[in-house]
Amino acid sequence: MHRNTIAVLAGAQLAAAGLYPGVTADNHTCALADPVLSCSKGAVPGKVDTCCVETFGGLVLQTQFWDTQSGFESQGQKYPPATWTIHGLWPDFCNGSYTQYCDLSRQYDPHPAPNTTDGTPHGTPVPPYTGPSIETFFEPYGKMDLLAYMKKYWINQGAPNWELWAHEFSKHATCYSTFQKECYGPKASEYDDLFQFFETVISYYKTLPTWRWLSASNIHPSNRTSYSLSHIQAALTREYGVVPYLGCGGPRYNETKAGKGSRDNGGTQLNEVWYYYHVYGAPQRNQALRVPADIAGGSLTSCAKTPGAIWYYERAPGSETK
Ligand SMILES: *[C@@H]1O[C@H](CO)[C@@H](O)[C@H](O)[C@H]1NC(C)=O
Ligand SMILES: *[C@@H]1O[C@H](CO)[C@@H](O)[C@H](O)[C@H]1NC(C)=O
Ligand SMILES: *[C@@H]1O[C@H](CO)[C@@H](O)[C@H](O)[C@H]1NC(C)=O
Ligand SMILES: *[C@@H]1O[C@H](CO)[C@@H](O)[C@H](O)[C@H]1NC(C)=O
Ligand SMILES: *[C@@H]1O[C@H](CO)[C@@H](O)[C@H](O)[C@H]1NC(C)=O
Repeated sequence: MHRNTIAVLAGAQLAAAGLYPGVTADNHTCALADPVLSCSKGAVPGKVDTCCVETFGGLVLQTQFWDTQSGFESQGQKYPPATWTIHGLWPDFCNGSYTQYCDLSRQYDPHPAPNTTDGTPHGTPVPPYTGPSIETFFEPYGKMDLLAYMKKYWINQGAPNWELWAHEFSKHATCYSTFQKECYGPKASEYDDLFQFFETVISYYKTLPTWRWLSASNIHPSNRTSYSLSHIQAALTREYGVVPYLGCGGPRYNETKAGKGSRDNGGTQLNEVWYYYHVYGAPQRNQALRVPADIAGGSLTSCAKTPGAIWYYERAPGSETK
C-alpha cells in the first residue's frame, strides 16, 4: 500500500468515466486480437483494442506480503503456513509512475488512501465506500469457491480482509485499460470486472511461490538468524529469472543497536516482494514477460543492505492456520 515511487496525477477527467472516452461496449472479443506486449511501441490506443491489450498500466506488478500477525486472528483471519500472501496486481505506467482510483463509479474502498485521486489536497476527493462488505457480492454469482480461496490467501492486517480486496480493486484495477467496465459487453453482470480482477490476481500469484523459492536457498523464517539482502535477492532472482523488488519495514538499520552509527537506513524486517511483468495482450490471459524491478529506473529495495541486517521473522504463535 505504501510505494516508493511517486504517484502522478492523470487528471480528474479519469475519475468521471472510463479511461478512454468513446470506447463502447461492443466488439471486444480478445481471442480475435493480437496479444501485443504491453509497453511495446504497438501497445497504444488507436493501434489496438484497449480492452484486449493493456495500454494504460502496462508495467504489471504481482505484490505479496510476509506478515507475522494480522491483528484479526480472533476473527479467524490467520495466515496459511509456509506461504506468503497476496497484496495485489498493480498497473504501473511503463515509466514506473502510477495513478489510482481511476473510476469512482467502482469505489468499494471504505478507507481510500490517499483520499484524493492524485494524493494532493487539490485532487478529486475519493468518497469512502459505505455499502455492505463486498463479501456479500459473491454468493449470488456462484463465486463462493473464489471467496474461500481469497479468505485463505489474501489476508489484511489490522482490518477485515474484504477491505484490502476492495482497496486493491478500486485503487488499482480501475486503472487498467483491460479491466474497464465497457470491456465486458453491453450485458455484463454487475461484478464481472471485480471477479475477473480477483481471478487474474490469483492466476499470477499461483505461479510465484515465494516461500518455497526462499526455502530452496535455505532462507527460512527465523527469529534467531538474520539474513543478507544479497542472499535473498539472489535466491528469488534464481527462481524468477530476473530481480524482483524487496520491501522491508521495521526499524531502520541505523536505528537498531547493531546498526548504530551506520549510514544504512534501510528497513530491517522483510515484508514484501513485488514481481514485475510486461503482459502479452490483456493481463487476464496470464501470459507475461518477467522483467527486472528496475526496468523503469526505480530502486530494487527498501531493505538494509548491510550484510546480515534483515530479519525474516517467524509468524506469531496462533497467527497461522493449522
Ligand atoms: C462490431 O463489429 C461488427 C462486425 O465486424 C460491425 O459490423 C459493427 O459495426 C461493429 N460495431 C462497433 C460498435 O464497432
Ligand atoms: C509517465 O507516464 C505517464 C503515462 O504515460 C505520464 O502521464 C507521466 O507524465 C510520465 N511520467 C514521467 C515522469 O515521465
Ligand atoms: C484527506 O485527508 C487529510 C488528512 O487526514 C484531510 O486533511 C483532508 O481533509 C482529507 N480530504 C478529503 C477530501 O477527505
Ligand atoms: C541513518 O542514515 C541516514 C542516511 O544515511 C541518515 O540521514 C540518518 O541521520 C541516520 N540516522 C541515524 C539515527 O543514525
Ligand atoms: C518472531 O518475531 C516476530 C517479530 O518480533 C514476532 O511477531 C513473532 O511472534 C515471533 N514468532 C515466534 C514464533 O516467536
